[in-house]
Amino acid sequence: MDAPDSILDLARASVPFEASALFGSARPLEVELGAGKGRFALEWAAAHPGIGLVAVERARTYLEMAARRAARTGVANVRFVHTTAEDLLFRCLTPSSTAAVHVYFPDPWPKMRHHKRRFFRPENVARLAEVLAPGGLLRLKTDHEGYAEVIAAALAAEPRLQPVAPEAAFADVPATSFEIKYAREGRPVRCFALQRV
Ligand SMILES: C[S@@+](CC[C@H](N)C(=O)[O-])C[C@H]1O[C@@H](n2cnc3c(N)ncnc32)[C@H](O)[C@@H]1O
Repeated sequence: MDAPDSILDLARASVPFEASALFGSARPLEVELGAGKGRFALEWAAAHPGIGLVAVERARTYLEMAARRAARTGVANVRFVHTTAEDLLFRCLTPSSTAAVHVYFPDPWPKMRHHKRRFFRPENVARLAEVLAPGGLLRLKTDHEGYAEVIAAALAAEPRLQPVAPEAAFADVPATSFEIKYAREGRPVRCFALQRV
C-alpha cells in the first residue's frame, strides 16, 4: 500500500525545507520533535490551519499510525517525517526558519549511563535557538523532575531564548497522549515556554 500523503519521504524531499514546497503555499513553519502517534500534531494543525506543521518521529510504526489518523481526519497541514529530531534541526531546517518548536515528553533516559542520549544538551539547545525565527516560541513539557532540572539549566545558558509566561503560552495547547496518561496517574508535569529574542 502507498504511504499516506502526510508522510514526507525524506529521500525525495528538497532539503532544507521550505514551507511553500512542503505545503503548497508560504506559511509559518512549526515543528514537533518526537510526535509519537500524532495526537498533538493533528489537533494543533487542525486548530491552526494557517500554519504548516512538520512532526518528526523516529519510530516508524508510530509515524504510520499518525499518518493514518491524518488521512481519517483530513488534516492537510501536517507532514510526518521519519527521522530524528537532530536530523531535522541540523539538516532540514535553516536559521530563523521556524515559527514554533514543540517538544512534549522527550525521552528522559533515567539511567546515568544513558544520560548522553538525552536530547536537551547545549549544542541542541543552541541549534533550537538558531532555527527559531525572532519572536518564535519553544514549548516543552516533561514529567521527569531530574531531566527538567537539566533542561532548565541548558535553557538558562542560552541567551537567545528568554522565558515567557507558561500560562499564556500553553493556554490553547492540547494535551499529548503521554500527558493524558500521566494526568490519570497524577504525575506532575513541568512546562517551559521560551521566546527567541
Ligand atoms: C515519551 S514519547 C512522547 C510522545 C509524544 N510527544 C507524547 O507526548 O505523547 C517520546 C517520543 O519521542 C520519540 N523520540 C525519541 N527520541 C527521538 C529523536 N531523537 N528523534 C525523533 N523522535 C524521537 C520516541 O520514539 C517517542 O515516540
